[in-house]
Amino acid sequence: MLSPMKFRTSAAVTVASLLLTGLRAVAQTPEAAAAPAKAAGMSSQQVLFWVLISLLIFLLLVLLLTFVGIAVQMRPQLRKVYELPTVRHSWSGRVLGLLVGDATLVKGEVRDELLDHDYDGIHEFDNDLPPWWKYSFYATILFAVAYVGYYHVAQAGPLQGAEYETEMRQAALLVSPDADDPNKLTTYQALATPADLSEGKSIYASNCAACHGQSAEGKVGPNLTDEYWLHGGEVNHVYKTVKFGVTSKGMVAWKGKLSGKQILQVSSYILSLQGTKPAGAKEPQGEKETAGKPVVKL
Ligand code: HEC
Repeated sequence: MLSPMKFRTSAAVTVASLLLTGLRAVAQTPEAAAAPAKAAGMSSQQVLFWVLISLLIFLLLVLLLTFVGIAVQMRPQLRKVYELPTVRHSWSGRVLGLLVGDATLVKGEVRDELLDHDYDGIHEFDNDLPPWWKYSFYATILFAVAYVGYYHVAQAGPLQGAEYETEMRQAALLVSPDADDPNKLTTYQALATPADLSEGKSIYASNCAACHGQSAEGKVGPNLTDEYWLHGGEVNHVYKTVKFGVTSKGMVAWKGKLSGKQILQVSSYILSLQGTKPAGAKEPQGEKETAGKPVVKL
């Protein structure tokens, strides 16, 4: 530890040298001073602002150091003041207690007093809960009450479901407006009217049955009636597979051959066949998904 005299001199030297450097920087010709600032994209006003802010922070640091230095020097006197009962039981007294290093403020008053019990030679302490622990615990109770009040009673803030929706909507705005971008987020719903489904059925019969089977039981292509999907069984996923195909694996890209409406019709038709268990069904391929809802994978 530095002696107080040395501490003061070294502090004074540091302050003086730092001030001098600062003054020299300010005393440069305006052009010279502005050159590096321009390079960093700052106006001279901004430079002045930051110089002043740094000076302020520096002064506050010096003040804090001085204060701590004084508190350390005066510890014995402060301790005497702290021991006065009137001071000790006031709020300002507690702050003083932290300054003079009263451990009971952190660890609790009662330490290591044995209880009378004797469990086969095992004794038990009856220590206070450490105040830092106790007050943190109270704080969690307050937090919980405020949380329930804010989110569930007043419903003032969005819950995670709503937050998720918002984020997805924001993300959708970033998606390319190009309809033929395979990464475009689509929000189709499966069609359910008999007209659309029978249209989908005839599209299927003339274009898809050769590879996927008359009842979509699967031939060269996978079985489309089970819950297992290679490329996703949600309607937008099926739509995308049909539109862009998996050409490397033999699944045709129907973009340009079928209209967007027809692709949606045939996708909806396929999904309407879920669970029909046709004869000669091909073994499952891919991952299991339940009725159009992708299984959330963690
Ligand atoms: C030339 C054969 C062929 C034709 C025609 C064909 N498919 Fe496919 N299809 C495949 C193959 C092969 C796969 C498997 C791709 C893979 O392994 O990734 C497939 C995969 C699929 C999948 C993805 C299945 C999954 O598990 O994710 C869907 C959906 C699909 N086809 C729908 C259709 C529709 C609708 C048509 C008609 C418009 C059609 N297919 C026409 C061969 C074909």
